[in-house]
Amino acid sequence: METLVFASNNAHKLEEIRAILGEKFKIKSLKDIGCDADIPETGSTFQENALQKAQYVKAHYGLDCFADDSGLEVEALNWEPGIYSARYAQMNGLEVTSENKDDLNMDVLIDKLLALHPDKGEIAGAKVLSSARFHTAIALLYHGEIHYFDGIIPGFIINEKRGNEGFGYDPIFIPEGQQLTFSQLGADIKNGMSHRARAVSQLAQFLKL
Ligand code: IMP
Repeated sequence: METLVFASNNAHKLEEIRAILGEKFKIKSLKDIGCDADIPETGSTFQENALQKAQYVKAHYGLDCFADDSGLEVEALNWEPGIYSARYAQMNGLEVTSENKDDLNMDVLIDKLLALHPDKGEIAGAKVLSSARFHTAIALLYHGEIHYFDGIIPGFIINEKRGNEGFGYDPIFIPEGQQLTFSQLGADIKNGMSHRARAVSQLAQFLKL
């Protein structure tokens, strides 16, 4: 069986990938190949960051590899925070811990959007602050070539946090056509429609050819 490294140590992402590609490929994590480096992500797009991670693995371990990079893009903020999604509160001068990071990132985003006095109506009684989308890019280094796969899920940012599941910006994101946030929809429904699921499905289609 061919080995393919997924340049991540995120247990949830690995499980998802192995469920889809595991029959055809031996999927190894960074830990599996003995890589504990903090791989630099200094690109200016999701694609560049994903490619940087995949190229690091290829250069140091000589293995075919893919990597992902994701984030939230908010229309009213010129598509910020984008590649800065994980550290948005920090970038805006707040001190964060791993416990309060998600909450503070959402607070900063809501405050910035409220300052623009949005008038975009309501969904399920919540004020809509902006259109937005989650975006995942996957970069694959395979048999000497680079391939990119993108997944996007469009939706809306609302003014209050709803739901207890998920992570990141899930409590304030309502996907287009829904009445509930990603957080309220829960893992099964979210994972069936998410940006990551859409990018991974493109990758799977390509690899199964
Ligand atoms: P990563 O590249 O998948 O680690 O995502 C980077 C950051 O984007 C995360 O730390 C979150 O702030 C945000 N993000 C990415 N995907 C999601 C999601 O599915 N829900 C909520 N936030 C997300």
